[in-house]
Amino acid sequence: MLNVTKSFLPPLDEYIKKLEGLWKSHWLTNNGILVQELEEKLKAYLGVKNLLFTGNGTVVLQMALKALGETGEIITTPFSYVATTNAIIWEGFTPVFVDINPIDFCIDADKIESAITKKTVAIMATHVYGNPCNVEKIQLIADKYGLKVIYDAAHAFGVTYKGKQLLSYGDISTCSFHATKVFHTVEGGSIFCKDDILFEKLFLYRQFGHVGDDYFSVGINGKNSEFHAAMGLCNLPYIDKIILKRKKVCEWYNSRLSDEIFQKPVALPGTIYNYAYYPIILPDEKALLLVKDKLASEKIFARRYFYPSLNELPFFKGREACPVSENISKRSLSLPLSTEMDETDVDTISRLIIKSI
Ligand SMILES: Cc1ncc(COP(=O)(O)O)c(C=O)c1O
Repeated sequence: MLNVTKSFLPPLDEYIKKLEGLWKSHWLTNNGILVQELEEKLKAYLGVKNLLFTGNGTVVLQMALKALGETGEIITTPFSYVATTNAIIWEGFTPVFVDINPIDFCIDADKIESAITKKTVAIMATHVYGNPCNVEKIQLIADKYGLKVIYDAAHAFGVTYKGKQLLSYGDISTCSFHATKVFHTVEGGSIFCKDDILFEKLFLYRQFGHVGDDYFSVGINGKNSEFHAAMGLCNLPYIDKIILKRKKVCEWYNSRLSDEIFQKPVALPGTIYNYAYYPIILPDEKALLLVKDKLASEKIFARRYFYPSLNELPFFKGREACPVSENISKRSLSLPLSTEMDETDVDTISRLIIKSI
């Protein structure tokens, strides 16, 4: 069986060694020693100033939105995982969908301005598959209209754009460390921001808004445990090797699934990618279903990612049509990609795909 991803796991003895300390200290959660160590190591690896390790990559979206301190409309992308839209609705904002561009599938920065109203408070966009949004243009628009910028960078761990960590763009960026991600802590996430006052606010949000007996603000349980931090500490030393192996798998796919037949997202120049996903765009939805079923019949599970276009969610119909996103989401299939794969796996998958279309 080949799933769309297979989580990297460090040598078991390295994880057990980390746990031995916990059996001595009995300090299992609440900003423990391993959580703090992971945060320091991640800051050093990513070269960022402020970072919090959290329970997942969804709660950080909620924390980022809460920090806006007001409600209103959020300009967002229809081509993302449902967590992006959910967080907006959950926090009492109205998502306003702006279509994506057909090259990298990120929000089309040229269409943002016409969606801004008096109620707009922020732009929340996703670096789709880890490919950067047009961060320069989005920042110019945000500055012009006094809007905040939040990036859902769930896929973007380790991606650099023009020599800078992608996670360092925007007022706030968030990341997911879920088991399916390039760098993972089983469940987990993180939040990044440059502003120290805003960071202090997010720090309090993560722990119910209080420090000891002093209560400062509303808050939530955004914490993560020592067990999850231990997994992160064990995985981090392997991250460069993980990314290199994923790059190799993508190259194997590239040599078999030509760009002329299979459209793929193309990142902005200046991007150094983390090989988080290998999506292909099939000619139409019928071809996608054929390929998906053919692979499944051989116990190979590709994933429709992202589907549906979020402006077409059954519980929240966006008022805006997003034809590019609606079209791409019907044709986009993410193929299996993990450090465990070899060239024969890629060959088998590619042959099945070519045969079924
Ligand atoms: C774009 C995007 N945002 C947010 C999330 C949510 O992350 P988590 O599963 O860690 O809560 C995901 C998860 O896959 C995602 O793909």
